[in-house]
Amino acid sequence: MALLTLALAKGRTAKESLRLLEKANITFPNFDEASRELVFYSSDQKIKMFYVKALDVTTYVEEGVANIGIVGRDNILEANADIYELLDLNFGRCRFVVVGMKDIPLTKGTNLKVASKYPHVAEEFFAKKGIHATTIKLNGSVELAPIIGMADCIVDIVETGTTIKENGLTILEDVEHISTRLVVNKASFATKTEEIQTFISDIKSILE
Ligand code: PRP
Repeated sequence: MALLTLALAKGRTAKESLRLLEKANITFPNFDEASRELVFYSSDQKIKMFYVKALDVTTYVEEGVANIGIVGRDNILEANADIYELLDLNFGRCRFVVVGMKDIPLTKGTNLKVASKYPHVAEEFFAKKGIHATTIKLNGSVELAPIIGMADCIVDIVETGTTIKENGLTILEDVEHISTRLVVNKASFATKTEEIQTFISDIKSILE
């Protein structure tokens, strides 16, 4: 029986996550990104991995079906799950930013229409600034919203800056720095303390 169950985010950071695990001698010989399989076992059978959508990682961890998760802080903030965030894995670095067509005043009392893949993050950010934001949830190509006048601005992640540049958009404000994190289910941390601590220290020694 596997000692730990890990939910690993598909997408941009998946390769890097697997590379980090490999450096810690955790390899998944049957892993094949092209296949439709969703569950993989490490070569020593100690880790069972769920390969799932980034947005769902915190849900698996909060529900306790996964003891640990590897996912971006963007999704952690959006999910607002009751889990521990224990380690910064230092890759998948990007920023949460407010982006718009031109200089929209982000001043207290303003009403704004904001499109985002991260409506919770957007609402929290604008609420703190005393701005009344009506959010529109989109699932991708968010940069289109201010261009076509569907929203005044967007809250999104920027990595290289290429997307905003190619669409003639401007960063209006920085919200937060993002990177990939290791998250842990709270109950598992109490019941599987030793296994989880070992897993974390193995990863930590690679990072150092
Ligand atoms: C993300 C993000 C931006 C883009 C930023 O989208 O939402 O659109 O990447 O990266 P850049 O600064 O390097 O250009 P993603 O590529 O995940 O696709 P999506 O628009 O379909 O969500």
